[in-house]
Amino acid sequence: MYATRPDFLRLKRVQDTFQDRIAAYTHRVERKLDEALPLASTQPVRLHEAMRYAVQGGGKRVRPLLVYATGECLGLDNRILDAPAVAIELIHAFSLVHDDLPAMDDDDLRRGKPTVHKAFDEATAILAADALQPLAFSVLASVDGVSAAARTRIVQLVAEASGSLGMTGGQAIDLGAEGRSLSAAELEHMYALKTGALIHASVVSASLLQENLPANDATALDAFARAIGIAFQIKDDILDIEGDTDVIGKPAGSDVAANKATYPALIGVAASKARCDELLGGALAELERFGNRAASLDWLARYIVERGH
Ligand code: IPE
Ligand code: IPE
Ligand code: MG
Ligand code: MG
Ligand code: MG
Repeated sequence: MYATRPDFLRLKRVQDTFQDRIAAYTHRVERKLDEALPLASTQPVRLHEAMRYAVQGGGKRVRPLLVYATGECLGLDNRILDAPAVAIELIHAFSLVHDDLPAMDDDDLRRGKPTVHKAFDEATAILAADALQPLAFSVLASVDGVSAAARTRIVQLVAEASGSLGMTGGQAIDLGAEGRSLSAAELEHMYALKTGALIHASVVSASLLQENLPANDATALDAFARAIGIAFQIKDDILDIEGDTDVIGKPAGSDVAANKATYPALIGVAASKARCDELLGGALAELERFGNRAASLDWLARYIVERGH
């Protein structure tokens, strides 16, 4: 059966206290997402039901977890991390709804359930995604307890990560590359945009909230985030080949069926795994300067490469 709970509990090296911390962050963001979304009974009801369906009931919540874990590393209060955690997850959810549409990847299953356009209809799916995006910025704009300058910088960061120079641009490159072969450098550029940009923004939004952060620490977190963002998508592509539909909660083999340009298609699964490990090694090295404060980030980086779904 599709695992609706994160497979965190299967990673052996993790201590109980640590699992508790990750579980608490997951619980926290689920609650904050619920609070941010209009009630399903709000008019127009079908739109609000679809927005909730797109966001709730599944999802590993990796991006919010990265926000909280970076905040933990920098000694920030969770209360100021909720807004970027929620906003980036809302944008991620919007990107998945569009990604699954017939005009894009044309997939029928997501997080073990029918995709939004299957459970509702295409027009409702488009509108629900349309509405999730501004909701994210509304959440970001209303964050309390931070300077106006930090708030503005985070809005700008998340906007750029979502737009034509970030996730949306990466999705355009992905669609344009169907049936073609990209070089490794072109693939990594596409991955950095379509997936890496929001993962990068998750880490950097938290580091922007630590206004006294030394420049070298900010640079290290930036490099960490870039590496795990690319590794995340390579791993997603590997799971498309090696994973079972029941476990990954989305149709296995979808990339091959759509003739997608992916790392496994270019260099094979074994070399793709080696590239993932290399990116992970580089990412973990960036965390060394933070010592034990980066334990959650360290764990999440390993999880991104070792996860089963
Ligand atoms: C899937 O992201 C889309 C990619 C960017 C690869 P996730 O693997 O984070 O999906 P959920 O949120 O856990 O369902
Ligand atoms: C999607 O990449 C990245 C997004 C920005 C949504 P994929 O198309 O590989 O994601 P999945 O496999 O459908 O989740
Ligand atoms: Mg896609
Ligand atoms: Mg897809
Ligand atoms: Mg995929």
